[in-house]
Amino acid sequence: MQNETITQAVSERYAKAVTTGEEMCCPTGYNHEELGKFIPEAVLKVSYGCGTPVGLTTVQPGETVLDIGSGGGIDCFEASRRVGPTGQVIGIDMTDEMLALARSQAPIVATNLGYTTSNVDFRKGFADAMPVEDHCVDLIVSNCVINLAPDKLNVFSEMYRVLKPGGRFTISDIVADQPIPNYMIHDKEKWGDCLSGALTLGDYWGGLRQAGFGGIHQVGFIPWRVIDGIHFLSLTLTGYKLPSASAQSTAHYATFTGPFSRVTDEQGHTFTRGIPQAIDATTEQLLLSAPYREYFVLTDSPIALTREDPRWISIRPESVPCVWEGHFALLTGPFVEACDDDDHTFTCGHPMEICSKTLDVLRNEVYRPYFAIINRAGETVTPQATTSCGPTDGCC
Ligand SMILES: C[S@@+](CC[C@H](N)C(=O)[O-])C[C@H]1O[C@@H](n2cnc3c(N)ncnc32)[C@H](O)[C@@H]1O
Repeated sequence: MQNETITQAVSERYAKAVTTGEEMCCPTGYNHEELGKFIPEAVLKVSYGCGTPVGLTTVQPGETVLDIGSGGGIDCFEASRRVGPTGQVIGIDMTDEMLALARSQAPIVATNLGYTTSNVDFRKGFADAMPVEDHCVDLIVSNCVINLAPDKLNVFSEMYRVLKPGGRFTISDIVADQPIPNYMIHDKEKWGDCLSGALTLGDYWGGLRQAGFGGIHQVGFIPWRVIDGIHFLSLTLTGYKLPSASAQSTAHYATFTGPFSRVTDEQGHTFTRGIPQAIDATTEQLLLSAPYREYFVLTDSPIALTREDPRWISIRPESVPCVWEGHFALLTGPFVEACDDDDHTFTCGHPMEICSKTLDVLRNEVYRPYFAIINRAGETVTPQATTSCGPTDGCC
């Protein structure tokens, strides 16, 4: 199917939805009662997102925020409130009917927020060719849109182009636990349903990396639907257009504190917990970004950590029977590969089957941010049938 055919089908679908006000799409977590204090019902009614990219308190006063696929404007209006009157919000959408609704509501929202004029500019355009200047945006948000774009790699490189160095994105989108089969990809209707265009997390994450982003990690996860055995998940990811490395690098060594025993970062460096490793200025820049910062000790001279050090983090499985209940763990970044204390090696974006003991480990608060957990067995599993070893057998 041609890209133009897909785009036209998607646009017609959303034009119809906004005209009829029908319910569509995905799980979302916005509190409509709160937003209803300043956003008109006409906008809330056609909120078709799958997450809360603007509700994650990442938006700062005075920033310029870009919303890709702004629809009726819900995320733009919430961003408008958060950036304040000195900030600016740009919403891009390809569908005239969506733009018309969003533009008609902008003055009402501005009045409700006490602004003299609206700070939201709704522009007509495509996600893979955005009518936005280079390097002018602090934060890109998007809510359930990129899966609808046929050329995602171009969307990701457009995102990189318009962000300022040091800028970031927070996008909620639908991904799948396995490649979408051709019978779904070529079903025009299912594109509009956020199914046909869903990438695997591995491809999504890889595309963002290819565009140049770093520090890509999960900030939200909601299991959505299972269709023909394919799990569709709503994931919210954040990542950075890292600034160029400073010539004056201050740290020359990094020591990983855990909880993993070994990790490989996005630049391909492998760190073993507790062992200092020489780093250059580019790696220092990466390790200073939010998802890494907490778990690396950056120093001028090498510092080794022992198990006794309070910074050392290790979570071992309990000594209980091992039960296979159908759970699979998806490493969601920022590491390309990570190994736990039981010698399981997880690869970003690739579901790996885990037993009940490992599930408990990964549900620990220090591991939880790194994983999305799905269950492929559903109701069919019985604990008696799936216990593979006793507490001390060390089978997995
Ligand atoms: C699922 S709705 C989400 C709308 C809004 N983000 C929200 O949370 O309510 C998808 C929106 O993205 C727009 N859209 C889809 N593909 C697009 C593309 N390639 N370029 C620009 N806009 C697109 C559609 O017109 C529609 O308004």
